[in-house]
This record gives sequence, C-alpha cells and structure tokens, in this order.
Amino acid sequence: MSTRDNSGAPLLDVRDVNVVYRGSRWRSPSFHALHDVSMQIRAGETVGLVGESGSGKTTLGRALLGLAPISAGTVTFDGADITRANRRARRALSRDIQVVFQDPYSSLNPAMSVESILAEPLRAQGVPGAEASARIGQLLGQIGLEADAGRRYPREFSGGQRQRIAIARALALKPRLIVCDEPVSALDLSTQARILDLLIDIQEQTGVAYLFISHDLSVVRYICHRVAVMLKGRIVETGDGDTVTSRPRHAYTNRLLMASPIPDPARQAERRRQYAALSS
Ligand SMILES: Nc1ncnc2c1ncn2[C@@H]1O[C@H](COP(=O)(O)OP(=O)(O)O)[C@@H](O)[C@H]1O
Ligand SMILES: [Mg+2]
Repeated sequence: MSTRDNSGAPLLDVRDVNVVYRGSRWRSPSFHALHDVSMQIRAGETVGLVGESGSGKTTLGRALLGLAPISAGTVTFDGADITRANRRARRALSRDIQVVFQDPYSSLNPAMSVESILAEPLRAQGVPGAEASARIGQLLGQIGLEADAGRRYPREFSGGQRQRIAIARALALKPRLIVCDEPVSALDLSTQARILDLLIDIQEQTGVAYLFISHDLSVVRYICHRVAVMLKGRIVETGDGDTVTSRPRHAYTNRLLMASPIPDPARQAERRRQYAALSS
C-alpha cells in the first residue's frame, strides 16, 4: 500500500451530500436516503463503507457515479466539481471513475465474448484496435486468466472468474477510483479472499483508490485503510480500518462487528452469544 498519497488534496471529496428519491407514482412520498454525508478518499487509498442493508451504501456509490439524485451538497473529484456533471462530462469521467458490482452473473453480457466485454470501454473512448487488443491481453494477465480466455463467454467461467473479468473491465481505462459495491458478497469464502488479494495487488501496481462497500466488517477489515460506518443514511463513525473494525465507538458498529462472519466456528459461536446479548 505504498502508493497511498497522504499529502495534499483528496482525490474524491464528498461534502454534505443529500439524496432524495422522488416517489415513483403520483403523490407517492419521496424518500430522504442520504443526510449530509461527507467523506474523502485519497489517491491509492481504500475507504470502506459499511452498514446494514438499506442504510444507503449503494445510494452513495450511485451518487458518485451520477446515478442517484443529489439534492444538496457537493462531490469534487481531483479538484473539479462533478456534482451535476452532464452526460458528456460523465462520459469523460468514466475514464477516471469505474464500478464493480456485487453480482458477476448479471453484470456481464452473456452474449458477448470476454474480449468484446473488455473492448467495449476501450472502443467507447476511441482507443485504436491494435492498442485495444494489446490492452486486453495485459488485462487478462493482470487478473490471472489465460490469454485464450478472451475468446470464451461468461457462462464458461466460475463466479470468482467472472468477478475477475468485471474487475478487468473496470480497469480497462486505468481509472483512479473504483466504486466496489459488495464485490465479494456473492462468492464463497475462499474465492472472496482471492478476489480481495487481487484488488490489493492491483492497487499496489496501479495506485487506484477504492470506495469499498460491504455489509461485512471482516471483509472490510481485510482490505480497507479507513472505514466509514453508515446508519439510516448518515455516517455515524469513521476512522482507520483496524480501530473501527476491532474497537468501534458506536454501538451500531459493534452490532455489525458481532454479526460479521469469522471463519473460526468457536469464535463465531462466542460472537453469536455476544450479538444476541447486544440485540436483546
Ligand atoms: N431508486 C430508489 N427509489 C426510492 N428509494 C430507493 C431507491 N433506491 C434505494 N432506495 C431506498 O434507499 C434506501 C437505501 O438503499 P441502498 O442505498 O440500496 O442501501 P444499501 O446499499 O445500504 O443496502 C433504502 O431504504 C432503499 O429502499
Ligand atoms: Mg447495496
């Protein structure tokens, strides 16, 4: 994690962001999903965003990508205000900010070969064919797939391999920030660890920053430099990864900690007892 930049202005600066979803039907109520959310991410840094389901984690990720309606507050990327970036500015921004979703089964188009999946972002940015082919070869190597994987289709790969392909697609344009929204939550435990290690290796090689969204504190502890804890659309605790995930200050964070799976069954049982005591 030597690429982490602790000096100067943050790469991403989120200030007092509010998101209000309009009701989808006439007179149906609107929903205030984020309240005055602030966070900063530096170049090369991994910031975890944890919280129970429905707390607003995905909404924050989507707000950064221009996919959720920001009603107040600002999002600054590399010094530029992108809060209300138009379609054209967003297209340019997609070079710098990418996303990896939870479900590697639905996020890859099953009708496209891996090669065409990886070529798509390159073509959209006008990268010439020969350069794109070379880049695709590089990407396959970076995620640990054989070069002939390019000719195959998503259905021929396991969940973990598909998530590698989704990560390669996100890396294609050498972004500076990747929003990872529960990227390992659909995978079994040993596959989770390998994908987390891959993300760490990629960060060391490229200096990319991650907003790492997860409901699972043990995953977050493994990969994040800093952690923000979200409850009902508000950030209730932030700090360095080890402190927040081992000695949380907020009772809610402690409950998340008790609920997070740990591989050791005896410790798991002890955790469950503590958790039951906390919840009652
Ligand atoms: N498009 C939408 N319209 C209305 N409400 C939404 C929409 N998307 C999410 N929500 C609501 O916002 C809240 C936060 O959702 P989300 O950001 O998906 O939480 P998380 O990712 O932490 O599980 C939830 O109550 C959810 O029902
Ligand atoms: Mg979510």
